[in-house]
Amino acid sequence: MRYFITGGAGFIGSTMVDRLITDKNNEITIYDNFISGQMSYIEEHFKNPRFKLVKGDLLDLPHLKEAVKGHDFIFHFAANPDIAKAMIETDLDLRLGVIATYNLLEAMRVNNVKKIAYSSGSGVYGDVGLTEPKEDFGPLLPSSMYGASKLGAEGIISAFCFMFDMQSWMFRFANVVGKSQTHGVAYDFIKKLKQNPKELTILGDGSQSKSYIHVSDVLNAMLFVIEKTNETVNIFNAATGDYLTVNEIAEIVINKLNLKSVELKYTGGKRGWKGDVPIVRFNLEKIYKLGWKSKYNSKEAIKHSVEEMLENRNMPWNIVTTTI
Ligand SMILES: NC(=O)c1ccc[n+]([C@@H]2O[C@H](COP(=O)([O-])OP(=O)(O)OC[C@H]3O[C@@H](n4cnc5c(N)ncnc54)[C@H](O)[C@@H]3O)[C@@H](O)[C@H]2O)c1
Repeated sequence: MRYFITGGAGFIGSTMVDRLITDKNNEITIYDNFISGQMSYIEEHFKNPRFKLVKGDLLDLPHLKEAVKGHDFIFHFAANPDIAKAMIETDLDLRLGVIATYNLLEAMRVNNVKKIAYSSGSGVYGDVGLTEPKEDFGPLLPSSMYGASKLGAEGIISAFCFMFDMQSWMFRFANVVGKSQTHGVAYDFIKKLKQNPKELTILGDGSQSKSYIHVSDVLNAMLFVIEKTNETVNIFNAATGDYLTVNEIAEIVINKLNLKSVELKYTGGKRGWKGDVPIVRFNLEKIYKLGWKSKYNSKEAIKHSVEEMLENRNMPWNIVTTTI
């Protein structure tokens, strides 16, 4: 298989590269503009003849059309990494989510590449409180530009599939955690506590409650579902089935760092930022019925990822800069 992975230098994308490259029959091209991707996440593959890096932006359609040529399967992970930034740059998600996805599909169409897997998210459901939405839940009313761009991208993918005989697998993930995270609540807490171990500022009131899935479970879910399903459009929720609050995550991080008497400061309000969905739930019947279940629950995923991040020498808090 010749895989083309957008956002392949990012957190989930680079982990997928690590997984797919272990199979000697696979060739992998990654396409990334490095707005949040890291060279250090992929450099171990540079000498592998089955690995190719193309530096490029999905918004550059002519370049993308050339790069996509000759591939069999697309994993599309590239997206805007900074959800809150839409407050000041309102077209950011439209460009990096919807237009970028359209360009990718168009590049696939002209090159006769037929299959795509897409990392969508719970943002498509909007703020529906304690409701556990199934994949066919509606109406879909996103409450952030990021969520809207995920929904827009799903729509464009679906339309290309039906109009041009393509096939897609779309995954609405919970919050993904793991060794190479480039953002996220536990990442943010570690970063802040490494700078000031005496106090921790928590966005919102700390009661935000969501599912946290380990990246290894995300890869397992994607590869499992892709193998087991064959509709034109295959769409699945992928989460852990349990939930953690931001306060519980703060406690885990503080314990893992062996800190005592950290003063918790809250910015207040139910949500961390405008567009944040404070309670995120998933109905997982569809993916359970297919035979997939996460290995880690949310608490285990957070604990494991905090340990991994603390040990990861590429994390900002582990990078030692020396001045001469
Ligand atoms: N991390 C999560 O909790 C989570 C949850 C649900 C869905 N997702 C989705 O999964 C995907 C991957 O997330 P991640 O956490 O690995 O993010 P990430 O920021 O680590 O990776 C995204 C990658 O895409 C690249 N990129 C962004 N815009 C680009 C463009 N226009 N052209 C080329 N490259 C571009 C970035 O440089 C980066 O390498 C995203 O689509 C994200 O929305 C993530």
